[in-house]
Amino acid sequence: MKILVTGGAGFIGSAVVRLAIARGHEVVNLDALTYAGRLENVASVADDPRYRFEQVDIRDRAELGRVFAQHKPDAVMHLAAESHVDRSIDGPGDFIETNIIGTYNMLEAARTHWIGEGRPEGFRFHHISTDEVFGSLGETGLFTEETPYDPRSPYSASKASSDHLVRAWFHTYGLPVVLTNCSNNYGAFHFPEKLIPKVILNALHERAIPVYGQGLNVRDWLYVDDHADALLLAVEKGEPGRSYNVGGHNERRNIDLVHAICDILDDKRPRGTGSYRDLIAFVEDRPGHDARYAIDPDRIMEELGWRPSVTVEQGLEKTVQWYLDNPDWWQPLLEIDGVGTRVGTG
Ligand SMILES: NC(=O)c1ccc[n+]([C@@H]2O[C@H](COP(=O)([O-])OP(=O)(O)OC[C@H]3O[C@@H](n4cnc5c(N)ncnc54)[C@H](O)[C@@H]3O)[C@@H](O)[C@H]2O)c1
Repeated sequence: MKILVTGGAGFIGSAVVRLAIARGHEVVNLDALTYAGRLENVASVADDPRYRFEQVDIRDRAELGRVFAQHKPDAVMHLAAESHVDRSIDGPGDFIETNIIGTYNMLEAARTHWIGEGRPEGFRFHHISTDEVFGSLGETGLFTEETPYDPRSPYSASKASSDHLVRAWFHTYGLPVVLTNCSNNYGAFHFPEKLIPKVILNALHERAIPVYGQGLNVRDWLYVDDHADALLLAVEKGEPGRSYNVGGHNERRNIDLVHAICDILDDKRPRGTGSYRDLIAFVEDRPGHDARYAIDPDRIMEELGWRPSVTVEQGLEKTVQWYLDNPDWWQPLLEIDGVGTRVGTG
């Protein structure tokens, strides 16, 4: 299959690109290379004859038309987005333009291409979204595909808007779309402003490890390569018009997650004295901070046969090791404006 992947130089998109190439697909990676997009993330496949890169902004409708006409993809996996909740609070404009208008542009470019090719049945427009569109849970319950949308941050509201557009293009124009809504990812190549890499890197630099509020917010963590596997299954086998929630039943309170990372580091790279836990500093909570996210992944497990391959403990161990082994990747990113200053539980 020839897959047009948008946002393929980002954290999750690059995992998708690497896995798709490993599984024998052709990939056209379309990415604007914002601060979050790094070609180093796809360096391992850059010389593969089945890989192409297009530096294009999804806000540029004409360029999207050119890319579709030139590459004629069999499927689209749309991951390009502004993705950091804290940045969306500081400045929502880019989130509206990229996540909403950009998705509209992608839908229209895909629809023109799909009609031009004679409406092939196997074509898929796979929109990659987040569980944050469902809002916040109390102490019990899980997000299912039927949970009503209740986004509460500019980021999640922009993603919810894009999900609605994608469903409308299915119902109105018959475009064969598939949606997935996933919980928080972690793993290699995770941008250093997000919680898990931030904890690892602050610890290694002997800096305070900031935790919002009392660290009681609960997130459901999924190893990024398991997400990439679910996404490829969804684009290959997903039913048009259907959405699939992706998560691995790995709920952790932020403070417990931070403790687990500190303990792994204590084991792998012991401090001179004491534990990395001593660096934890509680900071003022993020406005509108959702209390708990948790995914019910029954549908994707039962209908598409997806299973996560690692527990959160195994995934965290691999992730910490990757950051210890790859300072050349993360060192330059710490210099980017704003990266060192946000807490990041997005
Ligand atoms: N990170 C998570 O935990 C998580 C969970 C569920 C869903 N998602 C969704 O998955 C997708 C990818 O998330 P991520 O964490 O890899 O994000 P990321 O910020 O690491 O990567 C986003 C990529 O999109 C590119 N991009 C941004 N604006 C663009 C534009 N206007 N035109 C073209 N490219 C542009 C960036 O250059 C970057 O390569 C997003 O749609 C996000 O909403 C993320």
